[in-house]
Amino acid sequence: MPIPAANDPKALRQAVLDHMHVGMTNQTLLAEEGGPLLMESAEGIYVTDVEGNKFIDGISGMYFRNAGHGREEIAKAIYDQLVSISMNVYSGATPKTIQLAAKLAEIAPGELSRTFFCQGGSEANESSLKMAQAYHVRRGDRGRYKVISREGSYHGSTYGTMWLGGHPGFPRHDYQPKPANVVTVGQPHYYHDTYGATSAEQNGERAALEIEKAILFEGPESVSAVIGEPVSQPLGGVVPPSNYWPMVREICDKYGVLLIFDEVITGFGRLGTWFGSDLVGVVPDIMSFAKGITSGYFPVGGSISTQKIADAFAGGPEKVWSHMYTYSAHPGGAAAAFANLEIVEREGLVENARVRGEQIADSLQVMKEKHAIVGDVRGVGLIQGIEFVKDRKTKEHFDSSVGVNAMLTEELRKRGVWIRVPAYILPIAPPLTITADETDTLTTIIDEALGAVEQRLGV
Ligand SMILES: Cc1ncc(COP(=O)(O)O)c(C=O)c1O
Repeated sequence: MPIPAANDPKALRQAVLDHMHVGMTNQTLLAEEGGPLLMESAEGIYVTDVEGNKFIDGISGMYFRNAGHGREEIAKAIYDQLVSISMNVYSGATPKTIQLAAKLAEIAPGELSRTFFCQGGSEANESSLKMAQAYHVRRGDRGRYKVISREGSYHGSTYGTMWLGGHPGFPRHDYQPKPANVVTVGQPHYYHDTYGATSAEQNGERAALEIEKAILFEGPESVSAVIGEPVSQPLGGVVPPSNYWPMVREICDKYGVLLIFDEVITGFGRLGTWFGSDLVGVVPDIMSFAKGITSGYFPVGGSISTQKIADAFAGGPEKVWSHMYTYSAHPGGAAAAFANLEIVEREGLVENARVRGEQIADSLQVMKEKHAIVGDVRGVGLIQGIEFVKDRKTKEHFDSSVGVNAMLTEELRKRGVWIRVPAYILPIAPPLTITADETDTLTTIIDEALGAVEQRLGV
């Protein structure tokens, strides 16, 4: 088959199906839908496909395009960097990356000050988990190898991260056996409370106590870390009650277990605070980050730890933290991050995320009153979500054969919003640059699309 021309959508779509693995995607469904979105250009909150259709990007690519699309400033910073020095060497570092590490120490919460750089979120979590375990080993706790993660979370797709959490949308059953170090607990989610709680606070308290119970059951001397996202995006913007993370922090400290925050989505402004850690008022021992640090203009991730953790690796050769990736600390990524963070600061995007988030939340409340299929609305900043249900009382979801998510995806797309709706949650996470008017357009379209889906369902 010849290489398809860039202006031949039909041939491009066929070639995707013939020559690419499109991750986590049902290839048959993709073929039925006529192939994937073929993006050609993007500006602000909009993406335009090869056929000239323009969409609001309702999920910021994949929750990464914080500074919005079409930022020549970032592209130019990467270009300038690459034409001067475009690589890192074994045991080396470049000035730009060193400056970025210092910048992160300045903006990261609490005592987080030492960064290991990598290329993305899965690698960041791998690095955080390895750092935690090696830290315990350096302190003589060789037995601490288990990791407690929370159902409904997603922490990555690599061999070491894929079994963490357990989001039903990302089944892992192909990759048996489940590693012996993975322990799974619940997480606070009052709308779907499983703890018999009578208030959100009680739900939070019981979820935190479940972690303590797991630590005791497994044996504290075998537990390395607890990992979690401060606010859960996969569950559709579930914000834990304010008592939850402080309790988890205390429990971790009580048993010498490290707390890792996965801020791959929540970091760099999305919640209306610089980090999720700032929102929940708890500083982890290690924080994984990726996506928003460069707004996805260059693949960068990392793990930032306290000096206390880093000190465990100082000393003779036996202390070395044996971990690396070839492209760690790439100066092109550092240049992208600097230019991106400069935009986030200059344009007040963290505050904008907070305000626009409130605007969306207000509209979602109105939609909840109006649409029978809306079971719950929730979120903070620019991680907002709608959970749609068949029955509001029982909170039962539509059978997957009904295809409500595909209907909603289609109705949104027809009206100019790009969000591929998973299962029964509509995630809403536009770029942090979204204006008040654009927010109105986005929520109006969501409202209309919900109405159209209800009509198709005969609700
Ligand atoms: C919370 C969280 N952690 C980790 C990851 C994995 O990141 P990546 O896909 O860059 O490896 C993701 C990806 O969506 C994520 O949302």
